[in-house]
Amino acid sequence: MLETQQIDTSKDTVTNITLSNKSHTSITVSNLGATLLSFKTPDKKSKLQDIVIGFGSIEDYFNNTDTYFGASVGRVANRTENARFSINGETFQIGQNEGNNNLHSGPDGYQLHLWKINSLDESNNQISFKLDSPEGDQGYPGNLTLKVSYQLTEKNELKIGYKAISDKDTPLSPTNHSYSNLNGHASGSIENHQLQLQASTYTPIKDSESIPTGEIADVGGTPFDSRTSKTIGCDIEQDFEQLQLATAIGDKSGIKLETFTNLPGVQFYTGNFLNNHPGKFQVSYGKRHGFCLETQFFPNAINTPHFSSSILKASTPTTYQTIYKVGTA
Ligand code: BGC
Repeated sequence: MLETQQIDTSKDTVTNITLSNKSHTSITVSNLGATLLSFKTPDKKSKLQDIVIGFGSIEDYFNNTDTYFGASVGRVANRTENARFSINGETFQIGQNEGNNNLHSGPDGYQLHLWKINSLDESNNQISFKLDSPEGDQGYPGNLTLKVSYQLTEKNELKIGYKAISDKDTPLSPTNHSYSNLNGHASGSIENHQLQLQASTYTPIKDSESIPTGEIADVGGTPFDSRTSKTIGCDIEQDFEQLQLATAIGDKSGIKLETFTNLPGVQFYTGNFLNNHPGKFQVSYGKRHGFCLETQFFPNAINTPHFSSSILKASTPTTYQTIYKVGTA
C-alpha cells in the first residue's frame, strides 16, 4: 500500500511516501535527500516498533550534515583523503568538511537536495527518486544521474537500489546512512544487540582522521571479529586502536535485521558521536543509540589503487543494491 503526503516547509514542498506490506511492516521515505524517515515492523510481541532513528521534523533534514540520519549519501560515502583525487591524469579538489579530508562528499551532500520522483509503482510497493548532478557538482567530474529506489517486499525486505550513469569517469560510492535500533528508535543503547558480521577483513586506519592505511587486515584475533554472533558492547571498549570507529546488532524486541549487498564493503558505525541529538517525538539520541551498516566501497578507495575501484566508468550504466530484511528471531 502506498500513501503520499505533501509537506510545506519554509524552504520547499517536500513529498513523503509510506509503503506498507501485508505483514504490517512499513517504510516512510522522503524526496528530501531520498531519505529513509521510518522503518516500522512488529516485534516478537507483535507491537510495532520504528527501528530507525530520525529527526523530529522534516525541516531538520535540511540541515542533515552532521548525523546523516536516514540519508542517501553521495556521490561518495566516507572519507576522501585531503579531499583530493586524480582520474585519468586530472586532479580534483572537493570540499574539506572534516579537517583536511572530505566526509560523505562535503557540505553540499545529496541528502540536502530535493530529488525528483522518478517512478511510483504501487503494485510492487516501489518508489524511485532521481537526482541530476551536473559536472563540477561537489567538485566531481562528469554529469551524473543517480536514481535511488526503495522497495518493500512481502518478504519484509527493504530493497535499496542505486542506478547510475555518468558521461565521464567519476567516483561513486553511494550508501544509506540509517541508524537502526532494533528495540525501537527510543530504546537507548544498542550495545546489548547481538551482531554477526560476515566480514573476514577490515581496513585499519592510520590516524585519528580515520583514513585507511591501505592494508586489508584479517579480523581474526581483533575486536572486529564478529563472524560469530556477539553483543555489540562486548568488545567495544577494548583497548584496540581501531575501535573508535566501528562494531554492531539486536535484543529486547527480538527484531532481526539481515543485510545483503553487492557493494564490496560495509562501514559498521555504532553512533559513537551521537550526543543527545533531538529526534522523533522529542526523543534525544545519545552515544550508541543506533548503529549503521553503511554498504559502500572502502573508505578513500579513489586514492588507494589496490582497493576495489569506486570509479563509475563513463557511459556505463551501473547498479548496486542493498537489502535490509526484517523479521523476528
Ligand atoms: C562515520 C562517522 C561519522 C558519521 C556521521 C559515519 O559513516 O564513520 O565517523 O561521524 O558517519 O557523519
